[in-house]
Amino acid sequence: MIFIYSLIAVTIFSLALSANIKKNPKVYYCLATLISASTIGFELYKMFSKVKLTGFINQLERASAKGIIAVAFFILVMYAGALSTKLKVTRKLMSIRAELAIIASILMLAHGIVYLISFIINTVPKLISGQDVKIITIAISIVGILAFILMIPLFITSFKKIRKTMQPKAWKNLQRWAYLFYLLAYVHILFILVKAKNPDWIKNISYTLVFGAYLVLKIIKYKSRSTF
Ligand code: HEM
Repeated sequence: MIFIYSLIAVTIFSLALSANIKKNPKVYYCLATLISASTIGFELYKMFSKVKLTGFINQLERASAKGIIAVAFFILVMYAGALSTKLKVTRKLMSIRAELAIIASILMLAHGIVYLISFIINTVPKLISGQDVKIITIAISIVGILAFILMIPLFITSFKKIRKTMQPKAWKNLQRWAYLFYLLAYVHILFILVKAKNPDWIKNISYTLVFGAYLVLKIIKYKSRSTF
């Protein structure tokens, strides 16, 4: 349910504050950096101590560390490009699409860094010493790392200052890689769901519905464009 709650919260937040995000993007980038940095700090501290959070703050920290809040922001970026531009909500999302992508990427840095460190500390030594590591565990991390690497140029070139230094066509061609990023993100999540001993069906269905509906909307948009 954390994913659904995060998606609802992030949607309300972005739509309600769209004008302010557009006007003062740096404030939101700073806020996202603060959340990301404190998540990294706490997760690293947790790796070497037995500290535990409880209640709402624990749920919030887990959602941040697992990249769920970041993915919720990425989903808004995806839907901004898939929903009909006749809708008011699409126009609102479109007006802050780059800002939302930057916020999503900053938040995703926490998940990527923490899980990359954990992969290097926990899984790589096992692989080197020939211990048994499940293929699905390796696949989850490899796909995550690929998505993370792909995210970096997309993230950097989302900043207006960087975008202005590029040829419009080169920028557009680079941003097309975002589709591979979304696909890798979904495959990464799918592998995690497949690995779970007790599948959480609400989680499985909600991720699949959100990514599946996006694909359907994109196909409809593509077909209507090629018709006219
Ligand atoms: C260095 C790169 C990455 C590594 C090593 C990695 C690894 C992992 C692992 C091991 C989990 C399972 C966490 C758990 O259940 O305790 C996880 C969860 C997750 N990852 Fe990644 N990941 C990486 C990058 C990414 C990227 C780039 C995205 C999305 C664009 C992403 C999205 C997610 C999401 C949404 C979950 C939580 C799924 C859920 O339980 O609802 N990850 N990741």
